[in-house]
Amino acid sequence: MGLTILVIGSGGREHTIAQKLIQSPKVTTVFCAMGNAGMKKDGIQIVDIAEDDHASLIQFAKENNVDWTFVGPEIPLLNGIVDDFSASGLKAFGPLKAAAFIEGSKDFAKTIMNKYNIPTAAHRTFFDFAKAQAYVLEQGAPIVIKADGLAAGKGVVVAETVEVAIEALKEMLEENKFGSSGAKVVIEEFLAGEEFSLLAFVRNQEVYPMVIAQDHKRAYENDLGPNTGGMGAYSPVPQISDELVAEAIATILKPTAQGMVAEGRAFTGILYAGLIATQTGPKVIEFNARFGDPETQVVLQRLESDFAQVIDDLVNGKQPNIKWKQTGYSLGVVVAANGYPNQYEKNHLIPDFSTIETEQVYYAGVKEEGGQLISNGGRIYLVEASGETLKQAQEAVYKVLDTVDTTGTFYRDDIGFKGINPAG
Ligand code: AMP
Ligand code: GLY
Repeated sequence: MGLTILVIGSGGREHTIAQKLIQSPKVTTVFCAMGNAGMKKDGIQIVDIAEDDHASLIQFAKENNVDWTFVGPEIPLLNGIVDDFSASGLKAFGPLKAAAFIEGSKDFAKTIMNKYNIPTAAHRTFFDFAKAQAYVLEQGAPIVIKADGLAAGKGVVVAETVEVAIEALKEMLEENKFGSSGAKVVIEEFLAGEEFSLLAFVRNQEVYPMVIAQDHKRAYENDLGPNTGGMGAYSPVPQISDELVAEAIATILKPTAQGMVAEGRAFTGILYAGLIATQTGPKVIEFNARFGDPETQVVLQRLESDFAQVIDDLVNGKQPNIKWKQTGYSLGVVVAANGYPNQYEKNHLIPDFSTIETEQVYYAGVKEEGGQLISNGGRIYLVEASGETLKQAQEAVYKVLDTVDTTGTFYRDDIGFKGINPAG
């Protein structure tokens, strides 16, 4: 009998995680709660239980003899789902609530980084609008304003001018635009340089880094438009050197894992460092306590080892054997609903990808109606392809997107541009 696994979450990230798990010869069954209808084509069984209903999820896991649960998104982690599962005698992969706090509070993350000398942008934390405004006037622009708590990627304003910065402070501290998430703000030094994501499997002080990826957070080509959850990604990132990645592992990932142990908040799960390669080395702009979306869709293609075996070993106290592909690239492009990341259109028919065999399609904001998939979310699906070169991977994805009907949706036509043409 192989493993029975439950994945929590419903996006493209969870589709990828669940697909890689079910492809393992060790695994018999993968459930995903709530999942999405697009996952069914890969044989993933979707379960109609909300990710905040811990009691029903625990009951489901017990009744279905789930060997372990993989938690995808940050919200259940910050709600203590791993704590609740372990209190019920169930294994779940992901940080405890106290450790997930590294994502839940930017101020807490900054405190850890300062205490353990982890390179990050200089910052100050404010509750009071007048004091925050005075600080911005003193520092000048560009400057970065961040709501302390979770704000679904929308609580960060990279202000080009002092006026924009003050407007953001006003919205967060005086007009409560982000509710309690913005009652406290972190004001950060603007870091210039190439951005990349370095993720690792972490178990207490053990750190197993993944290959790096680059996300494209702005909605439109050439990194213009509003910030989104991510419009596409590729891995690895050729313009970031192996030396710089090694430096980031040594100066950022390892001391962070050790610092969390020292704080009594030992971290086990996926640690995601959002980094900027500055003139003086890699620096942190954010930590997440989970896989990135859409980074997962490309990073996991680079894993040569069996993903289910890796997590099974981590969950069961064994030494994991983690190997990454040494050549080639993976690239993924998100197709989003017109209007995203603001109010967006729904109920557009999703193209039939069943005849496309060489590329992967990962679903997010979709539902099933009359036997067909239709859109019901902002980010709808992602098309991924691998290639010997980044350019080949990119061409393979756009060849697919060029031929399907994308009415009512949009995608960036330049995913990977910095990796393909670093100068331009
Ligand atoms: P976040 O929601 O924390 O991922 O931030 C959104 C985006 O803002 C990041 O992807 C960066 O492009 C940008 N950003 C955040 N912090 C800084 C910083 N200190 N300096 C420059 N850019 C930043
Ligand atoms: N792609 C950015 C994130 O998952 O936070």
